[in-house]
Amino acid sequence: MPSAQMLLQSTDFNITPLTPAVDRNFADDVLHGLALPQKQLHAKYFYDQQGSDYFDQICQLPEYYPYQTELNLLPRVAKELAGIFTKDCTIVEFGAGSLVKIKPLLRDISSIRQFIPIDISGIHLEMACQLLLSDFPDLSVIPVIGDFCFPVDLPALSHQQKIGFFPGSTIGNFCPPQAASFLRNARCTLGPDSYLLIGVDTKKSPHYLHQAYNDADGITAKFNRNILTRINRELGANFSPEKFEHYAFYNAGQGRVEMHLISTEQQVVDVYGSSVAFATGESIHTENSYKYTPDEFSQLALSAGWQVERTWLAEQDLFATYLLRNRG
Ligand SMILES: C[S@@+](CC[C@H](N)C(=O)[O-])C[C@H]1O[C@@H](n2cnc3c(N)ncnc32)[C@H](O)[C@@H]1O
Repeated sequence: MPSAQMLLQSTDFNITPLTPAVDRNFADDVLHGLALPQKQLHAKYFYDQQGSDYFDQICQLPEYYPYQTELNLLPRVAKELAGIFTKDCTIVEFGAGSLVKIKPLLRDISSIRQFIPIDISGIHLEMACQLLLSDFPDLSVIPVIGDFCFPVDLPALSHQQKIGFFPGSTIGNFCPPQAASFLRNARCTLGPDSYLLIGVDTKKSPHYLHQAYNDADGITAKFNRNILTRINRELGANFSPEKFEHYAFYNAGQGRVEMHLISTEQQVVDVYGSSVAFATGESIHTENSYKYTPDEFSQLALSAGWQVERTWLAEQDLFATYLLRNRG
């Protein structure tokens, strides 16, 4: 069942809570995930307000190369796109977060008139929109709080040229069949003759990846454990987050970084009326971050009806940005 979704007009940013006291989808997903033989939680649930704040802190870490690498690439991308997108256009950003990466595009592509950022983390999105409007007061900004795992109902896209934007390698959180399904949905959302600008992390040395997801300051560990704190708060559970250890590693066979929370002792946790038992060393799988070579990503995009028009690779091929065209 699709999650609750809210549309906010740029003139009216007073948000009422997205979720009622208990979000049934959240409760059902958590109980289902914790009942699986390999316990798991969906990565989208990292992003309550605290989770979004932790993610912003991760982006400032020297080890977390994807953020700054992509940000450094975007001014070059934007200058080239300014020559392609000369007619008035609408940009729809998926998983827009703090709205930092849209700025290089807004600075260089003067034909962008309307901006529709979508994110599941509502209050964080609202605050980011306020800040964006102070830098770009003439832009029409219509934030949408929603879950892009489901088709999202958008406001009218007021310009004929529609461009999707999906930075941050968030596509890597989906396993490949889900990623293809997301890309197909995005084609429907954006319609014929649309484009999608997408940032995707590349395959690289596992040592490099290990550092990125195991930072020295332990911020990624806090981000990971925060999902348990959120379950405690929103679903009345009694997890002791300190009894779960952050564990992240590169699974070369699957081509993904996996993030887990490992129970440090045998314990039973009450979650929304159910007792969930953990053995010592048992894990909850909390996130995948798939990495793609340009060839692999091009195949994935093609399978979902998108053609790679242009590829920009960052220094040492650390990250890739692709311009995809809807094949209709
Ligand atoms: C990895 S962060 C990337 C943030 C930003 N785009 C960047 O590149 O720095 C993922 C973002 O997507 C949002 N997000 C995650 N899952 C989502 C979902 N299912 N629907 C909507 N937004 C989601 C999160 O709240 C977060 O802002």
